[in-house]
Amino acid sequence: MNTLTSNETTGQRKRAVSVSERREPVKPDGERKYHLKAEKFSVFYGAFEAVRKVSCRFPEHEVTALIGPSGCGKSTLLRAINRMNDLIPSCHVNGLLQFDEQDVYGSKLDVTVLRRRIGMVFQKPNPFPKSIYDNVAYGPRLHGTRNRIELDELVETSLRKAALWDEVKDRLEANALGLSGGQQQRLCLARALAVDPEILLMDEPTSALDPKATTAIEDLIGTLRGSYTIIIVTHNMQQAARVSDLTAFLYEGVLVEFGATTQLFTNPEQKQTEDYITGRFG
Ligand SMILES: Nc1ncnc2c1ncn2[C@@H]1O[C@H](COP(=O)(O)OP(=O)(O)O)[C@@H](O)[C@H]1O
Ligand SMILES: [Mg+2]
Repeated sequence: MNTLTSNETTGQRKRAVSVSERREPVKPDGERKYHLKAEKFSVFYGAFEAVRKVSCRFPEHEVTALIGPSGCGKSTLLRAINRMNDLIPSCHVNGLLQFDEQDVYGSKLDVTVLRRRIGMVFQKPNPFPKSIYDNVAYGPRLHGTRNRIELDELVETSLRKAALWDEVKDRLEANALGLSGGQQQRLCLARALAVDPEILLMDEPTSALDPKATTAIEDLIGTLRGSYTIIIVTHNMQQAARVSDLTAFLYEGVLVEFGATTQLFTNPEQKQTEDYITGRFG
């Protein structure tokens, strides 16, 4: 059993982060490909630097978890990746963020295309007040798919990928808001998958869900990894240990440590990381 338990002398509640449930070992470094890179990348709200000169690379078709105490900049960094922060007037960036060698904040970049290639799932399930079918067909229609047979196929494939098809196939015209929270979140995932993205960003996708629905989403992450690059923000370290291949620890906007999940949770290089994962703060 590969566990890490907090130091008894701190008097803190014991917190063990098990990394023994992992499905398979991470890829060796030499086999990794990276299509998303940050170099001294900062994100500001006005004068406040919420993400501070972060440099890292996110590996293709693996799961990277972003962890750290509340307010450390996890959501800010995640939202910057598909430019969701464009909606916040005071928000601006500095440094470099590249997706497939293209500058995400470059003048030539088409944000609509970027968001098709980099999908997002939010903390609270946010289906549109439309039918289940129309929720999934929304993106493909937006991008020009009009053919009903093609749409039917896309809706089914996406719902299958999100492990929701069997539960909803007989009521595709029903309003999505009638689904349970866990089903709604899988629907949002199906909606994101329907436009065939390469990267999936997930911001605490299970924090509004019960344990059973949480397990369903975690299992899904396990099946999607290998086909999609997944970056997941979680405040739950057990979840990070269960679902991710790599983990990034952020503290006060600074990327303190980024490495293989197993290593980061059992043998962190930085004292701050160790303090955080053993429950001494945050
Ligand atoms: N829209 C905003 N305007 C101003 N400050 C913000 C905004 N959103 C987040 N912040 C600040 O940026 C910092 C990082 O926030 P956030 O990325 O939401 O952290 P996390 O997701 O790790 O909890 C916090 O100090 C937060 O108060
Ligand atoms: Mg957040």
